[in-house]
Amino acid sequence: MAETMKGLKRSHRCTELSAANVGEVVTVMGWVQKSRNKGGIIFTDLRDRSGLLQIIFEEGDDASCSVDSETFAKAESLRSEFVIAVVGKVTSREGNTNENMKTGAIEIRATQLRILSEAQTPPFPIEADSKTKEDLRLKYRYLDLRRPDLQEKIMMRSRVVARLREFLTNEGFLEIETPILNKSTPEGARDYLVPSRVHPGNFYALPQSPQIFKQLLMCSGFDRYFQIAKCFRDEDLRADRQPEFTQVDMELSFVDVDDVIEVNERMLKEIFATIGVEVPNPIPRMTWQEAMDRFGSDKPDTRFGMELVNVSEVVAGCGFGVFTGALENGGSVRGINAKGQGEMPRKKIDALVEFAKGFGAKGLAYIAIQSDGTLKSSFAKFMTEEQMAALVKAMDGENGDLLLFAADKNKVVWDVLGNLRLEIARNLELLDKNQYNFLWVTEFPLLEWDEEDNRFVAMHHPFTMPMDEDLPLLDTDPGKVRAKAYDIVLNGTELGGGSVRIFQDDVQAKMFEVIGLSKEVAEERFGFLLSAFKYGVPPHAGLALGLDRMIMLMTQADSIREVIAFPKVKDASCLMTEAPNIVDEVQLEELGIAIVKKEEE
Ligand code: AMO
Ligand code: AMP
Repeated sequence: MAETMKGLKRSHRCTELSAANVGEVVTVMGWVQKSRNKGGIIFTDLRDRSGLLQIIFEEGDDASCSVDSETFAKAESLRSEFVIAVVGKVTSREGNTNENMKTGAIEIRATQLRILSEAQTPPFPIEADSKTKEDLRLKYRYLDLRRPDLQEKIMMRSRVVARLREFLTNEGFLEIETPILNKSTPEGARDYLVPSRVHPGNFYALPQSPQIFKQLLMCSGFDRYFQIAKCFRDEDLRADRQPEFTQVDMELSFVDVDDVIEVNERMLKEIFATIGVEVPNPIPRMTWQEAMDRFGSDKPDTRFGMELVNVSEVVAGCGFGVFTGALENGGSVRGINAKGQGEMPRKKIDALVEFAKGFGAKGLAYIAIQSDGTLKSSFAKFMTEEQMAALVKAMDGENGDLLLFAADKNKVVWDVLGNLRLEIARNLELLDKNQYNFLWVTEFPLLEWDEEDNRFVAMHHPFTMPMDEDLPLLDTDPGKVRAKAYDIVLNGTELGGGSVRIFQDDVQAKMFEVIGLSKEVAEERFGFLLSAFKYGVPPHAGLALGLDRMIMLMTQADSIREVIAFPKVKDASCLMTEAPNIVDEVQLEELGIAIVKKEEE
């Protein structure tokens, strides 16, 4: 039977002890990392969240630094992951210092041992840099979380949240909770729905963000709000997306774009200073248009160049139908220069073509400039020598370079080359995780044309304010209207985004009209917000940072799963609890829900 802690109290965490404590009698508790018997003397590494500490069990008569035979026998039974309590004397290792251990200069000479809990052999070793498959680790997440690298990430997350709270509180922000059981919110992903028992056939939606509530809090006069908010979005998962995630959400009254940006810059500076990263204040800004033109992305990774070049004018009227066809359809021809990659084997170029097709390219044209200056190209036969030379020149092509071109509608060309640029950088290992490039992307288009629905949709959400000088365009050329919206980007990841909100009735009505939202539907969906605006609304703006993404980048993790204690996998299930699951018939009946089996397709 397991022993208890009765009469013992932990005096220190493992790595709180150092040479300064030599001679003290201490009580430590934790997990056995490993234990080995070296004949008459047992070395046990004890682990807690702070790290490791070596314990020595030696059989002997000196009650101040050894154990009796019964305790020694008990120590012999220790296996990895047993939970134990040890009382002992801190002694110096004298010359035998283990440089790899924070507590390597000392050890504990045990005088008492209690086995608080025995442990089965875990399904994988509890160690840093696990080679174990993620699926198995996630099934036993509680064990996975014992591994020091995950512990460090989760602890860092806690420290960052504490700092954020402190910073925002000092800046006059109030932390206010908003409801989880909601009406649908306007972020544009699919909602998670929760059936109501009391109102059969009715559903709550889990919040995709606290957007509407934080705007209402501004109407209520709270002035500066923040929340570490859980958000829920039923969308396809990726390495940087989870169905439930956390936002550092904020909203401010009587402000414009620069005010929101300024406070966030100071906040990021303070947070990243904790990992020794200096965030420039101000952080560079780039308009959406420039970001797309230069990087093919609204979240450019600026750690490397390989920028897009628009060669539409250079190839206009050339003999290559793919290029001229795209131009005739209102598209463009753009290229990137993969410096020094001119001798890339054909197979690898073909792989890049396939990669490009994954992003909607119909093909990828290339010119491989050999080291002797000759050109290998997939389309030279359609071009004159002069045209080829002009193209190479426009791309700053030098001997040994690989030039890649996409021709299509702008949107496709940007997407293809923007992603290709990243793929090549990944392949060439150009992405330095120790470099942190922050960037504001500003002046997003207010609207996006939805091909499927044949109408404009809000690019951010329908409460986003158009830029003052573009307001008249709402009537004449809505696609050209830029918004007071901004994203904060770090190394090609969208860390956060926000906007100045519409606070005038007429602008809001116009916005709904442009996106084809009838008065009735707008009233039905956001009526409470619209009426709130009728009772005195301050100009307001805000932003939400993705906390998980920020911690992921701070800890240089490959996925946000590594910085969330209990994450979900690609199909949005939890491998540990096996959620979601089938529920009782009785429960369904109570909710008035019947399950209809989907017909096999
Ligand atoms: P937005 O939808 O841009 O804005 O979200 C803000 C930030 O939240 C993070 N994020 C996610 N993180 C993990 N998994 C997801 N599925 C996920 N979706 C979003 C991103 C993103 O930049 N209410 C507005 C903000 C505002 O206007 O104030 C909003 O939610 O880092
Ligand atoms: P084709 O004449 O169709 O064999 O095309 C010649 C070259 O142009 C091939 O390398 C194709 O991959 C490339 N190509 C085809 N469509 C496009 C496009 N839309 N943009 C860029 N290159 C293309």
